[in-house]
Amino acid sequence: MTNQSETAPLNATDGDGPIQFIDLKAQQARIRNKIDARIKAVLDHGAYINGPELGELEETLCNFTGAADCVGVASGTDSLIIAMLGESLGAGDAVFIPTFTYNATANAVLLTGATPIFVDVTTDTFNMDVADLAMKIERVLEEGRLRPRMIIPVDLFGLPADYPRISKIAKEYNLTIMADAAQSFGGMLGNTRVGALAEISSTSFFPGKGLGAYGDAGALFTTDKAKGEIWRSIRWHGTDAQRKESIRVGFNGRLDSMQAAVLLEKLAIFPEELELRIKHAAQYDARLSGKVKLPSKVEGFQSSNGYYSLTVPNREVVQAALKEASIPSAVYYTQPLHEMEAFKPYAGDTPFTGADTLAEEIMSLPMHPYLTEGQIDRVCDVVLSVS
Ligand SMILES: Cc1ncc(COP(=O)(O)O)c(C=O)c1O
Repeated sequence: MTNQSETAPLNATDGDGPIQFIDLKAQQARIRNKIDARIKAVLDHGAYINGPELGELEETLCNFTGAADCVGVASGTDSLIIAMLGESLGAGDAVFIPTFTYNATANAVLLTGATPIFVDVTTDTFNMDVADLAMKIERVLEEGRLRPRMIIPVDLFGLPADYPRISKIAKEYNLTIMADAAQSFGGMLGNTRVGALAEISSTSFFPGKGLGAYGDAGALFTTDKAKGEIWRSIRWHGTDAQRKESIRVGFNGRLDSMQAAVLLEKLAIFPEELELRIKHAAQYDARLSGKVKLPSKVEGFQSSNGYYSLTVPNREVVQAALKEASIPSAVYYTQPLHEMEAFKPYAGDTPFTGADTLAEEIMSLPMHPYLTEGQIDRVCDVVLSVS
C-alpha cells in the first residue's frame, strides 16, 4: 500500500499474465492515491470549470513540450476545429490532410466549411507523402476553385511527420501547418518535442492515448503566443477576456478541472512511461526486424510509440493466431478516408496507392508501458510463427 505522496513502483511480472492491448488499470493502480487526492481537491474548491488545475496543466504542458503557449480544450477534435477557426478558415479554403488517418481530421476540416484535399501516405513511415502533397497543392492552384490555406500532417501511431520537408513546401506556398499530433504526444524530432514542431499542434487526451484523461480532453500548442489568446476566446464562446461580449464566433470547447487534475498526475509519470514504450518498441524491433516489414527508422525522428504498428501481407492469419493465443491486436485503419461515404465527394481522381496498401496490411500489436519482456516475447513468437 502506498501513501498519498508516493507513486507505486512498477511491478515486474514473469510474462505469463494476460496481455492487454492498452493497460489503463495497471497505470491507475500506480497512481490511484494521487488521482484520488487531486479529485478531492477539485471537489473541495468547487471550481469545476476553469479551476486552478487548468492553468497548472497548461503551464506544465508548455514546459514539457517547449511550446510558447498551450491551451487545454475539450477533445482532440475540438482542438483541430478551434485552431482552424482561429485562422479564419472557411468556405473556399483548401486544407491538405493525409487520407490514412482517423476520421476526426477530415470531419474537423468540413465542420469549419473548408474543403479537405486528400494526400497519399508512404508505406515506409505511414505518414504524409510529401511529393503527393506538392502535386496536390499545384493541382488546386491550377483548378483555381479553392485557395490553398493549411496543411495538417498527422503523426500516425506516434511518429512525427516529415516537418522539415513539409515546412519548405508550406513556406513556398504561404500555407499554415497544423500538426495533428493526437497520437504523438511525447514524440521528438531532433531535440524538439511534438508541440513545438509546427506553428500549431493539436493533440488528444482520449483515455487510450499516450497521455490520456478519464474522459475526453485535448490541447493546442503554438510557437506563436498571440494564437493562444484567440484559442482561449474561441473555446469560451468567442468572448473577450472579461467573458462579456462575443468578439468572434466560438463555442464551448473547454477542458474541465476534473480532467485537468487527472492529466496532471498522469503527466508526472509520463516521461518514465515514454521511456518504457521506447524500450518495448526496441524489443519488438529486435525480434521482428528482417522477418516482417516494420516502418522505416528515420534518423532524428523519435516516435512516441502510441501504437506499435507493422504491415503484414497475411493480416487475417496473424490476427487469428494472436487471438488463438489470447493476445489482442487491432487494425487502424481498414479504410482510407477517401473511400468513406462521408468523404467520397472529396476523393478526387488521383490514386492513393500507399493508403490502399496500408488498409490491406496494417495492424497494431499490444503497446503500453506495463508490458513485460516475457509478454513481448510471447507476442513475437506468435507473429513469427505465421510470418
Ligand atoms: C489522428 C487523430 N486526430 C484526431 C483525433 C480526435 O481526438 P478526440 O477523440 O480527442 O476528439 C484522434 C483521436 O482518436 C486521432 O487519432
